[in-house]
Amino acid sequence: MKFEFDKHRDIWGPLFTGQIQQWAEQVLHPADVLIEKGQMELAVWGNEPPGIQPRGGRSFSEKGIKLHKMRQLPPDYERVKYFDYAAAEYEMAVHIFKSFVTKHSFELISNFLKPGSRVMDCACGPGYEAIAFSMMAADSEVVAVDLSSEMIRLACHNGKDHGRTNMAFFQADAANLPAWLGKKFDVVHCQLSCSYFEDLAAVAGNMHRALYDQGYVVLTEPFPNTANSASINFAKAANPYFNRLYSREDLKSVYLDAGFSDFYWKEILPGIGLSIISKL
Ligand SMILES: C[S@@+](CC[C@H](N)C(=O)[O-])C[C@H]1O[C@@H](n2cnc3c(N)ncnc32)[C@H](O)[C@@H]1O
Repeated sequence: MKFEFDKHRDIWGPLFTGQIQQWAEQVLHPADVLIEKGQMELAVWGNEPPGIQPRGGRSFSEKGIKLHKMRQLPPDYERVKYFDYAAAEYEMAVHIFKSFVTKHSFELISNFLKPGSRVMDCACGPGYEAIAFSMMAADSEVVAVDLSSEMIRLACHNGKDHGRTNMAFFQADAANLPAWLGKKFDVVHCQLSCSYFEDLAAVAGNMHRALYDQGYVVLTEPFPNTANSASINFAKAANPYFNRLYSREDLKSVYLDAGFSDFYWKEILPGIGLSIISKL
């Protein structure tokens, strides 16, 4: 097999991974210790929404765990090709960074999510957060969605490997979700992915349609600050389809324009914010 050199994948990818790891060890780890001791002030914006009144339900996973692949890939599928390349090593590469992020995001989410909630994990990657939700929403189900063929295949494999039965896996574009996923979810979760969407407004509109008349979007995303802005060049070099970072004001404006009614945001670690966005 001919090896095609790709500077993004073969040079910048490993450098970006090293940079994330260093960031996790030098910034997130000490911050985590200070947060645990109550010695770090983190910003909060808006009012924390009430917990979910879950409608839940099971239908997508009724016949057992299954992978639903797209019959035809969209013309701009190229945008996720670096996730296809990286799928097998992705979780190992980002594990330390993500362990701090999910420790703090899940602390908030677990207060908020109820066992009967039906959850979509949008842009699920290898599926570990979706698997955790399927344990939290044990009376209901989790639908994991990703556009990358390799990521969604791996997510389904990981779901089976963890013995989950209340999950379904769909290859789909977050900006163009199938209509039959409409009005089916209490929560749409999306982590570390907004920066890669070409059209966040279209994704926000699709999330709005996917939710029941009452429901919440939960986003965990880095926001632009001095340190994150410096790492954008690495992120773009590793994946030229990396688009941009969003401030809390940007996210609020995009989601309110998409029809959502309220926006709550909390800095969970330096440079990482968790948004809970209400459709009421
Ligand atoms: C940085 S990874 C994050 C994965 C996972 N949420 C996590 O926290 O590890 C970004 C994911 O977004 C997916 N993605 C990018 N554009 C997408 C789109 N338009 N629709 C669905 N998934 C998309 C990629 O395939 C990739 O799995």
